[in-house]
Amino acid sequence: MSHLPADLTDVLRSARCVAVLTGAGISAESGVPTFRDAQTGLWAKYDPTELATPEAFARDPRLVWEWYAWRRELCAAAKPNAGHLALVELEKLFDDFTLTTQNVDGLHLLAGSRRVLELHGSIRRYKCFDTGRPLEGEPPPCDDPPPRHPDTGGMLRPDVVWFGEALPEAALMESIRAAREADVYFTIGTSALVYPAASLPIEAQRAGATVVEINPTETPFSKIATFSLRGKAGEVLPAILQALDQ
Ligand code: OAD
Repeated sequence: MSHLPADLTDVLRSARCVAVLTGAGISAESGVPTFRDAQTGLWAKYDPTELATPEAFARDPRLVWEWYAWRRELCAAAKPNAGHLALVELEKLFDDFTLTTQNVDGLHLLAGSRRVLELHGSIRRYKCFDTGRPLEGEPPPCDDPPPRHPDTGGMLRPDVVWFGEALPEAALMESIRAAREADVYFTIGTSALVYPAASLPIEAQRAGATVVEINPTETPFSKIATFSLRGKAGEVLPAILQALDQ
């Protein structure tokens, strides 16, 4: 990206309410694979219906558990990048700032963002497959995974939203509110294909927000975005911060 549109800086300077939707692209520069990028995306190599559904877990809990254990290790080794860190700074500039993420890697919280809504859950947490009861802390050691919830005796699963499951209600409601009230709505590093998350920028645009897309490639959001910034989140977001500082 060569330069930022001056109009965007003006709009941000007068904004009070800012909301953001992030997807896997913001963590790509931290080494966490995206889902739909042609060569490197997870769904290019693995079948989501065999790994990311309750039916898949019921059919082969060990396979699903081990696939998530591998991803959990990737996420645990990853560090927030310049994009995550710029969002931490951006939050400090606005009275009302809401960051909704589809990512389960926990990197926004690790970076220090305060108001984070994890729409698809977190790979860093666990819950009982039968009852949904959350696990406090780490799973017990186990020779024959998945381990069991110490209180319920049910199999432990990652606390992420699988295909066919409902999103956490409070996080979704709050994300919709933020989209409807936003003066500026950022959509960053998401292919805009998974609903209801993909409806948030549309809600924002309908309610009159300036929609800003940050993505190296075109997405369905590009049509509704007021500004489509073609570049990596780790480069474009720091450039926005710098422009606001001048
Ligand atoms: P996708 O893998 O579908 O899309 C990643 C997007 O990030 C693409 O549009 C890339 O062009 C873009 N991208 C890649 N590198 C980037 C960078 N450095 N900076 C900015 N953008 C970059 O991931 P999501 O849209 O997040 O759901 O996928 C949405 C949901 O689908 C995920 O939350 C997951 C998946 O199935 C669940 O697990 C429930």
